[in-house]
Amino acid sequence: MAAGRTGSKELHLNAFLMSTGHHEASWRLPESDPAAHIDVRHYVELARTAERGLMDSVFFADSPALFSDVGRRPAGTLEPTVLLAAMAMATERVGLIATASTTYNEPYNLARRFASLDHLSGGRAGWNIVTTATLDAARNFNLTELPAHRDRYLRAEEFVEVSRKLWDSWDDDAVLGDKASGQWADQSRVHPIGHDGDHFHVAGALNLPRSPQGRPVLVQAGSSEDGRDFAARHAEAIFTAQQTLEDAQAFYADVRTRARRHGRDPDSLLVLPGIVPVIGSTEAEALALEQQLDELIRPEHARNQLARTLRVDPDDLPLDRELPADLPDEDTIEGAKSRYTLIVDLARRERLTVRQLIGRLGGGRGHRTFSGTPEQVADALEEWAGAGAADGFNVMPAVLPSGLEVFVDQVVPILQQRGLFRREYAGTTLRDHYGLERPDTHHDHHAHPRTIRHQETA
Ligand SMILES: Cc1cc2nc3c(=O)[nH]c(=O)nc-3n(C[C@H](O)[C@H](O)[C@H](O)COP(=O)(O)O)c2cc1C
Repeated sequence: MAAGRTGSKELHLNAFLMSTGHHEASWRLPESDPAAHIDVRHYVELARTAERGLMDSVFFADSPALFSDVGRRPAGTLEPTVLLAAMAMATERVGLIATASTTYNEPYNLARRFASLDHLSGGRAGWNIVTTATLDAARNFNLTELPAHRDRYLRAEEFVEVSRKLWDSWDDDAVLGDKASGQWADQSRVHPIGHDGDHFHVAGALNLPRSPQGRPVLVQAGSSEDGRDFAARHAEAIFTAQQTLEDAQAFYADVRTRARRHGRDPDSLLVLPGIVPVIGSTEAEALALEQQLDELIRPEHARNQLARTLRVDPDDLPLDRELPADLPDEDTIEGAKSRYTLIVDLARRERLTVRQLIGRLGGGRGHRTFSGTPEQVADALEEWAGAGAADGFNVMPAVLPSGLEVFVDQVVPILQQRGLFRREYAGTTLRDHYGLERPDTHHDHHAHPRTIRHQETA
């Protein structure tokens, strides 16, 4: 039974959580706690707010490095799967998506971590698969250079293959728990994987019975040539940064075409562009908040970050001039290729000065930013979804917690009134919310809908 989407035309909304908000200066607002990013209570409240808004999931980005200078914004993050385990205990339905690197992890450990999160959350785990595009991270793992872009994706390919095999290494009905006979599990339904590949040699089986969803939901966020192909082969949800409707439509059509080319039903993957909503009761109020935030950006710090992304010297980026004409070609970028191109295209298309560009990036790091009333935000979401550019959105509040609360209390009801968003959760797992099938193990001889443990908690 192939994995497919059984959902309706409703939008899928993910809450992308990041310390005091996605705007880099949000921590400087009077309401913000500069240490919120390591306070579990802050995140538990955010998860409860997302669940109150019936959102599909909450999501954490991650990189195993202190990648931005600590002078600029709250730096460092709690490890996402640990944090999500705590949030799982404080919520019932909202999905829990963590980022983890295929370049700086081993499949057995990572498969176990996500299967554990899926078990303890009753089937709400998702994994955002990244190859980690920064030299800072490479230097934390015995390397002096960033592994080549292509090589990172080749390792990721095998990493996902091994992880799938491990998640499928127990049949759904392997655990018997037969006290009378004293047989806890049927050994013949627990399968060593015996994987021997270019990067990994893994005997298996996983040291955990199969989890409620079978496998966590696979998410991916790369948009380069390799990134799109990888997503088309493996992703069930794709997070992407798109600035214009045309670019988002082109990306949407492209990944679905690629999925078809890889023998997948294009409806078995969801595309969720990011949006940074700045919401006010009037448009003027929203724009005033946007301006207040931008004025709190420290340009010299932001310029250093931009220089790192563009692989140029900060002195080559005078604040009130446009970007230099002779920037490196994307082919030479071994880091985040698509983000590089998106940033350069944005600056060229709108003829932005460096100061204006860092203002736009300060708000969303290249994701679309939108300031307006709740009605206008709902219109913006409806327009892209209605134009074949999105199945839903990665909602990235500029300020947390207030930005998520306003979205849940004022935008969600409008989307519900328009029949564009659920009025109740139809199921209990992230796969239920995304309308994704539960994958079979493909080696059990009789189907069994759910594991024993999940039935007990449902
Ligand atoms: C919504 C979103 C979230 C992302 N989260 C992370 C992250 O948590 N960690 C990370 O290393 N990269 C993250 N990325 C970057 C991607 O994994 C990838 O490196 C980037 O999109 C460039 O991919 P490409 O080189 O295939 O174009 C994210 C990208 C997007 C669009």
